[in-house]
Amino acid sequence: MIQKCISCGKEYPIDDIIYTCQCGNLLEVLYDYEDIREKISKEGFRKREIGVWRYLEYLPVENPKKIVSLYEGGTPLYRCDNLAKELGLKELYVKNEGANPTGSFKDRGMTVGVTRANELNIEVVGCASTGNTSASLAAYSARAGKKCIVLLPGGNVALGKLAQAMFYGAKVIQIEGNFDEALEMVIKLAEDKKLYLLNSINPFRLEGQKTIGFEICDQLDWQLPDRVILPVGNAGNISAIWKGFKEFKETGIIEDLPKMTGIQAEGAKPIVEAFKKGSKTIVPEENPETIATAIRIGNPVNYPKALDAIYSSKGFAESVSDREITEAQKLLARKEGIFVEPASAASIAGLIKLIDMEIVDRDEKIVCITTGNGLKDPDAAIRASERPIEIECDMDILQNIIEG
Ligand code: F0G
Repeated sequence: MIQKCISCGKEYPIDDIIYTCQCGNLLEVLYDYEDIREKISKEGFRKREIGVWRYLEYLPVENPKKIVSLYEGGTPLYRCDNLAKELGLKELYVKNEGANPTGSFKDRGMTVGVTRANELNIEVVGCASTGNTSASLAAYSARAGKKCIVLLPGGNVALGKLAQAMFYGAKVIQIEGNFDEALEMVIKLAEDKKLYLLNSINPFRLEGQKTIGFEICDQLDWQLPDRVILPVGNAGNISAIWKGFKEFKETGIIEDLPKMTGIQAEGAKPIVEAFKKGSKTIVPEENPETIATAIRIGNPVNYPKALDAIYSSKGFAESVSDREITEAQKLLARKEGIFVEPASAASIAGLIKLIDMEIVDRDEKIVCITTGNGLKDPDAAIRASERPIEIECDMDILQNIIEG
């Protein structure tokens, strides 16, 4: 097991506490895949409970006794026939990451990231966050007995996420700035060794998140989807899931790879802009803005990995408006009973747009990933809904209303 630069190829031991290569580029964790291939089997996986740790051989842990877990992963993969019918699709699934312990996919990253901190005997962990990362890190560090510092952007962090970070006992600092600025600041703290950084620039966190890809294969009985669609913010998750699929292929579990399709909000779409130009670099956006506050990010750190995932898989990147996001959020709730936060609904909004654009074929087998629970952002849901009908305690009035 090593850390390796995705650009210059320089290798580092896994116990080196670094976040980027000396050349400035991103790192990834790599394994001896021949060794993994000998140790694993589909039947072997099935003997363990579904979840992140079912795929232990692919995870960067030296001493399993150090694992910090809240039973993350193993989220439902719903077959969504009502929505498929509405959209004229053959086979549509939703992988609902909102069912994780703190209500988002971040828990998969944090079980591995905080376990790593445990193995390194680190006492203080930290992150910048639009909300979910901080909620998750706060929970896992509480469970591990570690101190946690989180930096949040000023203004509109969704209420549920803020409540979680505060309640799990993290030191919560809200800056007068956006996520990108918060991340820059926390990276400086990490460079000064004030904390162990658990943003997705940390390649160990992404190792946990790649298990979304593993579970999709597992839950579909190893019959891969043609396409996976997900929201993109700091661009770690799409990179992680792509790595997961590639590792399953390399170790003989699957034969094909799905098209990775990333969706951003119109007000925060540097990766979509790069994709439309066929570019491998992004132009950061100064003032990202969207109702999907989770993905209100103008300078995604993982863009090189994300663009590689999209280009190598022959996938796509598209943006959707706030109105399309809210419409999709409602449609998913009303057709399938799945309540997700706005950023998550970007995957459904993107699917709808890509069908219209004839990028998505109606015969494709599609998995949309919904990344966070709807309860995270109750304000957004209430704003998008009709007010309750208020009446006196009077049976006649009640009867009139339900009949009318
Ligand atoms: N969906 C939700 C619900 C998120 O919270 C995030 C990221 C994303 C999608 C995008 O994932 O960054 O890997 O591309 N939230 C981070 C946070 C930035 O701080 O909670 P990504």
